Amino acid sequence: MADVTGIENPYDELAYRSLPVEWSAPEQLAVTSLLHGGPRMRLDSYRVLELGCGDGTNLIALAYYRRHGEFVGIDGSGRHIEAAKARATRLGLDNLSFIHADLREATTRTEGRFDYVLAHGVFSWVPDDVREALLHLHHERMQPNGLMYLNYNTLPGWSVRGLVRRFLLAQTAAVPGLRARTEAAQTLSSQLAATLMSSEHPYSQLMAREFRIVADAELTYVAHEYLNPENHAYWRSEFRALALGHGLAPIADADFTHAGGRSDPALDGWLETEGIVGCALEDTSDLVRYRQLHSPILARVDGSRSDATPEEVGALFVATTLTEIEPTTTVPALFRHDSGETLEITDESMRAGLSGLAALWPRGLRVSERFDDVAAIVDDLRLLHRFGLIDLRVVEPHDFVVRDPINRLNALEATEQRELTSAYHRRSPPTTDAPAETPDVTPAAVT
Ligand SMILES: C[S@@+](CC[C@H](N)C(=O)[O-])C[C@H]1O[C@@H](n2cnc3c(N)ncnc32)[C@H](O)[C@@H]1O
Repeated sequence: MADVTGIENPYDELAYRSLPVEWSAPEQLAVTSLLHGGPRMRLDSYRVLELGCGDGTNLIALAYYRRHGEFVGIDGSGRHIEAAKARATRLGLDNLSFIHADLREATTRTEGRFDYVLAHGVFSWVPDDVREALLHLHHERMQPNGLMYLNYNTLPGWSVRGLVRRFLLAQTAAVPGLRARTEAAQTLSSQLAATLMSSEHPYSQLMAREFRIVADAELTYVAHEYLNPENHAYWRSEFRALALGHGLAPIADADFTHAGGRSDPALDGWLETEGIVGCALEDTSDLVRYRQLHSPILARVDGSRSDATPEEVGALFVATTLTEIEPTTTVPALFRHDSGETLEITDESMRAGLSGLAALWPRGLRVSERFDDVAAIVDDLRLLHRFGLIDLRVVEPHDFVVRDPINRLNALEATEQRELTSAYHRRSPPTTDAPAETPDVTPAAVT
């Protein structure tokens, strides 16, 4: 059926430029699940299915470094799948395949069960029946203790963006062609942002900020976020109910160590204590924090759940760029992170455990090798991890076996003028031979 833009598939008209999603890497999903009491995942071999994989950017980078995994991508855009296959062929990857199919056929077009099911940029951007198929798929295609990752536009914060979208759709409706319509929307947004900025009124400032986002964003993102006929936002409680209706429960936000995905347990606790709950605490929390997106990891409701033990945390790897500003053997000690953040450490075992790790970055060491009494410092480690100041990892992606004499993935990415993706599934500008590891850290203070 033709949509409001007058074409069958907006992604075939204007291809989406995808990016690798750091927190969708199997080992990242596995550590997040472990730290939130979810299923424990196998990491020596596994199967990954990506629904709505676009031009394959995410899966190709995953598959390149993870020859021990099998990767399958499905997308309804012939243009996307063609591009994905061409890139996978150039890299000679035999652990990766792409299927051109509608997501409503994903169960019949694939075989066996997958440990990880990924769907980034899909749930909110498809009609209801596709969304239902996506949530249903785990019954036949996900391992009983597998993980599903997806993201969705979240109310009430996204309703502001929804107003801008509605306006831009109407304002550009007469412009023929999605590219030209997007260019018109960006030009208009730039003008509006500049005009609104001159007003000090908070509403004008908010709108100026929203229009600035449209003006500055990548063209294909604007096309498919703002001008796509499908875009549905959900309250978090509404999403939870939808997932539960399909036998899935959220474990945690996959991006909980990043500024955009971080929760605020202190604020949530205060809201609860004060009885400021509204319809649901999670919705009120999103309301007061202007949250516009959630990226949950889901597991089967009847799957295993148990808190991570000190032994399990001890078996993780810890890595960091935190460097002691004036090396000492006493506390309090001041550390600086690559992000510019400074941190005062008051516990001697924490100081001793962290000092010297920066020299190994991006590699880490086993937590149990650095800390004698893991149970005593486990909460502090989790806090530092949540604020992106240390990495806790289930495996060291540096040790993945890739026998290419040169990094062919990065060479291809450079040719395509993309950022370079590392084994840790992080992106960095193509300025150095080896991509640097640059964790995304917020300016929030942790002391
Ligand atoms: C916003 S893009 C996201 C692409 C990629 N996952 C990313 O995050 O960069 C949405 C993708 O879902 C695909 N898609 C949308 N509806 C679909 C459907 N019914 N069946 C298969 N693919 C679909 C589109 O072709 C497009 O590649």
